[in-house]
Amino acid sequence: MKLLVTGGAGFIGSAVVRYIINNTQDNVVNLDKLTYAGNLESLTEVSDNERYVFEQVDICNRAELDRVFKQHQPDAVMHLAAESHVDRSIDGPAEFIQTNIVGTYNLLEAARAYWSELDAERKQAFRFHHISTDEVYGDLPHPADSVELKTDLPLFTEKTSYAPSSPYSASKASSDHLVRAWLRTYGLPTLITNCSNNYGPYHFPEKLIPLVILNALEGKPLPIYGKGDQIRDWLHVEDHARALYKVVTEGEIGETYNIGGHNEKTNLEVVQTICKILDELAPRAGVNAKSEDASTSLTTSYSSLITYVSDRPGHDRRYAIDASKIAKELGWEPKETFETGIRKTVQWYLDNQQWCKNVQSGSYQRERLGVSK
Ligand SMILES: NC(=O)c1ccc[n+]([C@@H]2O[C@H](COP(=O)([O-])OP(=O)(O)OC[C@H]3O[C@@H](n4cnc5c(N)ncnc54)[C@H](O)[C@@H]3O)[C@@H](O)[C@H]2O)c1
Repeated sequence: MKLLVTGGAGFIGSAVVRYIINNTQDNVVNLDKLTYAGNLESLTEVSDNERYVFEQVDICNRAELDRVFKQHQPDAVMHLAAESHVDRSIDGPAEFIQTNIVGTYNLLEAARAYWSELDAERKQAFRFHHISTDEVYGDLPHPADSVELKTDLPLFTEKTSYAPSSPYSASKASSDHLVRAWLRTYGLPTLITNCSNNYGPYHFPEKLIPLVILNALEGKPLPIYGKGDQIRDWLHVEDHARALYKVVTEGEIGETYNIGGHNEKTNLEVVQTICKILDELAPRAGVNAKSEDASTSLTTSYSSLITYVSDRPGHDRRYAIDASKIAKELGWEPKETFETGIRKTVQWYLDNQQWCKNVQSGSYQRERLGVSK
């Protein structure tokens, strides 16, 4: 089987490409524009493999998409290419509309033109898998909102209505609608997955977890938006990659599958957990090292770097996924708990500081984004 993976140089896309090359006999064509978020260095372990090909292409360029389909003749598309950072979407929504909506439209049209010319057998087997986010559902009630909610918290299911809050999630919601319409109207065999927050290796250091690890190691402030009580449902990226491969190979056409880790944590809990692991794996050298006073030695913890900053405009309060459908129908369950996954992730960042330096050599220097004007 040959898979065309868009956005394969990004955080999740590169995990998908590594998973497929390392665990299957399938071929991968990685189509990526290489924006600031795309890094071929995330693929060095597979890039020499004869089953892997890279195409530097923008999904907004229809002629180039047509060429790639014609030249590589894929059996399925896994569409991950997107602008993905909420804070950036607040500062500059235009790029999100262009890539996430217009780009997805282009890819659907290029796929449809290619698919409609396939012979009957290949046409029937073809799949267009669109990778989306739980953020399209808006946010859920938070346990702090009322006493009753503490025991009976709702989750996002595949039937939850769309109510996106940010330019990012609105653009992803639009792309989901286009994908469903291309199945209903043209019969293009599509599937959609909506996943919760991912974390793990090769994550660009603008997102919470890698940003906190790297700032901590440099003794810089660890920014907490608002009170830090926003809840996210964390999933290790390699569990997500495994789920996506299951869906593209075994999922039912026209179905949506929610993917989540059963790991609801507040942002503050996440940052405190990272600090504790770093205190153990890379204790802050020199800070109050000579102090005999037990109370001042507390300041040696990385948690003393936690700094509360103004909240993100429109910040969603809680996300949490009901992943029972994919568990029941496709037999997928996450392998990592948050505790095992976050420890591996912190260790990975400690071991791969050169990757972190290389991917940040452009204009982004971990400054605050998305404060709105
Ligand atoms: N990160 C998460 O927690 C999360 C959760 C659920 C769903 N998703 C979705 O998964 C997908 C991948 O997310 P990610 O975190 O890996 O994103 P990312 O920002 O790390 O990577 C995006 C990739 O897309 C490429 N790209 C951007 N614009 C392009 C264009 N016009 N043409 C071709 N390539 C382009 C970039 O170069 C980059 O390699 C996105 O669609 C995102 O909405 C992400």
